[in-house]
Amino acid sequence: KKRVAVFISGGGSNMVSLADACAAPDFPAEIVAVISDKPTAGGLAKAQGRGISTFVFERKDFAGKAEHEAAILAALADIRPDIICLAGYMRIISGDFIRVYEGRMLNIHPSLLPLFPGLHTHQRAINAGMKIAGCTVHFVTEGMDEGPIVAQAVVPLMADDTSETLASRVLTVEHKLYPLALRMLSEGKVRMEDGKAAFADLAANETAK
Ligand code: GAR
Repeated sequence: KKRVAVFISGGGSNMVSLADACAAPDFPAEIVAVISDKPTAGGLAKAQGRGISTFVFERKDFAGKAEHEAAILAALADIRPDIICLAGYMRIISGDFIRVYEGRMLNIHPSLLPLFPGLHTHQRAINAGMKIAGCTVHFVTEGMDEGPIVAQAVVPLMADDTSETLASRVLTVEHKLYPLALRMLSEGKVRMEDGKAAFADLAANETAK
């Protein structure tokens, strides 16, 4: 099984969906660590309740971004993850860090990228008059929310949606999509090649249906 480290900053519902998928005996990955930049992240207790080791690296405990990331990289050297999944990790990771795990790091973003990268994505989708919304799992590259797309899922955007109602509808499909994308990467059905996502065969896409 591929060893996975999940990075969180908040409630960790995507981390839980990955952990639940990993609990199935035939799933090709296992979560070996959950890393948070926030000691108050609700996901930490959920990980511990599942017997997953947790680590907290608060930015304010380090002199700078480089020192903060160096501490996380040092911990990862012991954890030895094959794959890193960013799951609501609300921090921009430097190019130096990303290069260490290039092609092995996924992020989930709650919009149909390349639309609405960054923050306040649901309100921006509503303001734009979108009739659909969704989420994207992509390889992490240096440009924020710009990496090659691995998988996407769509939901309707209703006339009376607020950013809260839309966020919760998108979250329900995030919880299906992220385990699917992790399975694809773990099984070698997708890889990053020349800055693009390369898919091994059509069967990998079939599983999305
Ligand atoms: C999710 O909607 C995730 O897509 C989003 O934060 C939420 C975390 O929820 N991520 C980003 O906005 C990344 N910029 P969770 O902690 O319950 O998984």
